[in-house]
Amino acid sequence: MSTTPSMVVLIERKKRGEALTASELQWICHGYLEGEIPDYQVAAWLMAVRWRGMTGAETLALTDALVGSGRTLEWPADQPVVDKHSTGGVGDKTSIVLVPLLAAAGITFVKMSGRGLGHTGGTIDKLEAIPGLETDLDLDRLRRQVERIGCALVSQNQSLAPADGALYALRDVTATVDSEPLIASSVMSKKLAAGARAIVLDVKFGRGAFMANEEEAEALAATMVAIGKGAGRKVRAVLSPMDEPLGQAVGNALEVREAIDVLHGGGPADVRELTLVLGSHLMVLIGCAATLGDARSALAQLLGSGVGAAKLEELIQVQGGDSRVVADPDLLPPAPHVEVFESPQDGWLERVDARLIAQAALELGAGRRRKGDAVDPRTGVRLVVKGGRRIAAGEPLAEMHAASEDASRAALETLSQAFRWSDCPVHPFPQAHRIIEG
Ligand code: URA
Repeated sequence: MSTTPSMVVLIERKKRGEALTASELQWICHGYLEGEIPDYQVAAWLMAVRWRGMTGAETLALTDALVGSGRTLEWPADQPVVDKHSTGGVGDKTSIVLVPLLAAAGITFVKMSGRGLGHTGGTIDKLEAIPGLETDLDLDRLRRQVERIGCALVSQNQSLAPADGALYALRDVTATVDSEPLIASSVMSKKLAAGARAIVLDVKFGRGAFMANEEEAEALAATMVAIGKGAGRKVRAVLSPMDEPLGQAVGNALEVREAIDVLHGGGPADVRELTLVLGSHLMVLIGCAATLGDARSALAQLLGSGVGAAKLEELIQVQGGDSRVVADPDLLPPAPHVEVFESPQDGWLERVDARLIAQAALELGAGRRRKGDAVDPRTGVRLVVKGGRRIAAGEPLAEMHAASEDASRAALETLSQAFRWSDCPVHPFPQAHRIIEG
């Protein structure tokens, strides 16, 4: 049987809503990675999956095929590794806080992160705002670092789940990212290949997330938890709202500064809270705390003590960066032009729209319009206020950190639309987190 007809048959079957077998999915992943099946056929299959979905067994089989396309990491049994993954948000810098914080608590944390995707930010872009920091470590260097300091914050290694990398790049340009089985298998293949024993998934929903509502987020969370448990890992998902940006900073150097503030015991309450929630679940899953309450108070104490900040310093140093930024965040690259945006009116500020703030930050240079664009680490938006309070005309609402005065003027229109007003009294946006354990 030649390659082309069989792929046509598989596309045809998926188009009719039939489930493919594990060996057929393996064949597609292998063939695509080896260049034996062309982009246009894989794109057609992805679109059929986008509309027809996959059975639970098919999603599991696709995850296995993605994992099996590359190497896998194994960690010593006496040094179980934890990992966390967010499905993408605006202003989410929790990994930069959580990794050193848990490592300071004696928990081995290996976090492989991505770059910004669509309107959402990526931890690797944020970390690269730190002068000199290397995030592309080969697997031997990664192992040595983890043995030495108990943690790493690095970019996705190309030899882990390479078929996911190839499929992901194709999904990004064929409007097939937003598919529950494709997202679930993509995320979980990377987590499983990286060898974590305990995984906490932060599944976001709302204006600034890929999942528009809580129901979609819950379905995605349940699928990912089932895949992780099926592979023998301890997994929990936290559903977290993403209607307003997390914290006040959106933009790479600005977010690193805010993460450092949190590690020094300060920073915005919502970033601290999400860090404590995700960290507590990881501590319980890995058996380092008996209850969520115990875990939370241990982590809160560590946040106040500065040991997490010291661990971040160590991590930056071994990854070749300027670790002095932790004690002196003014060493992070500053934007040449900072402009304050003042409230045009008296009124109740209902919400600061996460998606529009992300768009304004992107227009200032903090994100990418096209794949491969460079980001300007100095730029972004720092919110002075969030929704849920009364504002007086002329009160500062946000700072625009821009490369030039012209650049800040260009982003002003988008920024001003992000502030949503109400005629009646409003409350701060709810930050309740729901847990999905499978
Ligand atoms: N993040 C991933 O790693 N994969 C997806 O498909 C979506 C978000």
